[in-house]
Amino acid sequence: MVIILVGGQWGDEGKGKVIDYLAEKADVVIRSQGGNNAGHTVITEHGEFKFQLMPSGILYPECVCIIGNGVVVDPKVLLREISQLRERGIEPKNLIISERAHMVMSYHPLLDQLEEEARGDDRLGTTWRGIGPAYADKVRRIGFRIGDLQKEAFMRKKLAFVVDQVKNPILTKLYGKDAYDWSNMLDEYMGYAKQLDPYIKDTFPIIQDALDRKANILLEGAQATMLDLDFGTYPYVTSSNPTAGGALTGSGIPPTKVDLTIGVFKAYTSRVGYGPFPSELLDEVGDQIRERGHEFGTVTGRPRRIGWFDSAVARYSARLNGIGCAALMRLDILDEQPLLKICTGYDFRGKKFDHPVANISHYKHSMPIYEEMPGWGSDIGAAREWSDLPQRCRDYVERIGELIGVPIELVGTGPRRDQFVTRGRELFD
Ligand code: IMP
Repeated sequence: MVIILVGGQWGDEGKGKVIDYLAEKADVVIRSQGGNNAGHTVITEHGEFKFQLMPSGILYPECVCIIGNGVVVDPKVLLREISQLRERGIEPKNLIISERAHMVMSYHPLLDQLEEEARGDDRLGTTWRGIGPAYADKVRRIGFRIGDLQKEAFMRKKLAFVVDQVKNPILTKLYGKDAYDWSNMLDEYMGYAKQLDPYIKDTFPIIQDALDRKANILLEGAQATMLDLDFGTYPYVTSSNPTAGGALTGSGIPPTKVDLTIGVFKAYTSRVGYGPFPSELLDEVGDQIRERGHEFGTVTGRPRRIGWFDSAVARYSARLNGIGCAALMRLDILDEQPLLKICTGYDFRGKKFDHPVANISHYKHSMPIYEEMPGWGSDIGAAREWSDLPQRCRDYVERIGELIGVPIELVGTGPRRDQFVTRGRELFD
């Protein structure tokens, strides 16, 4: 069975926890896009784990964890994650990196930062991890793939060209920075090659064999639908396709093999970085939710922007990804709110829209249309069954499901692994 898991909002929906829940029954977990701009938090009896590149199934030794061809891998960051796992007694023997995955090279984070600074007030608020520049080089066909680490002569020739002909002129002439020495870079990357070699494989036969034997495969989405390069709030997006389609190209799984797409939503909305956010709360309610929810970026530590649940965004995601069922996370963060609002659409100068529009300036100046519901005013952290949740809380969840047009099968009631309300449906057979 193949399940795709996608973020339904602007990221940080609590995907790590849902992936961890599903990974228990998965034979294979695949990351298919993004890079170390992602930060998936998993809390187990052994403490808290924050994964940036590592597929979240890594804590289950029987689960094959693949970094797919669509990911951009910063080898330094991946090696750091591997050694952090080792320090905690976990040997990631079950990790496989696609030889087709591209690398974030040393100059990519620097170029990301320099470009952002040059944009001034129009900056996007990227994570400065070099993700956009790495994907741009992939498309320009001057990127380096993980498999290239196993071909020193090829690396030498290509590094000499890319560094001297493409990167150094920009760094030195445009930004007044020091030039890179490609031969030092070669030494550095050959050092990574030695350490990563056991994990680098052709993932095509591995994934196809898993499909043939009907293994449980989980495609672990990073980022989210509203950050999608095509369907998100362009240009305030990431440089990959974190939607169901991107999961397929980023792993090599055919669309006909997908059984279910699960959307992960947070019970309110958050966004890091700039760009339109119609249901944003710029008042003390937003501050309360941010504090209670510790809404500060896993990767950058930046305070996240907070807003009411936006069902127009969620329905758009549900339709775009073909979401079959949803997880609604962090519901406990709303425990103390006396009044809840749900954005159901937008008003742009008297014209109504029921979905995010492509015209970014229209979307930016759209006024949210709200419906209101009373809060439940009690602690739901101990709820495990649907019937343990207060009636008003169930009403909120049901209303969201109705508005987005998909059943909500999982509800997150706290950060721990066991703080979940499930509604009886087995997601993996
Ligand atoms: P980039 O992916 O670093 O290029 O950043 C582009 C935009 O996507 C910025 O607004 C980031 O804050 C946002 N972004 C990237 N990755 C994540 C994520 O994993 N969660 C939430 N926002 C993200």
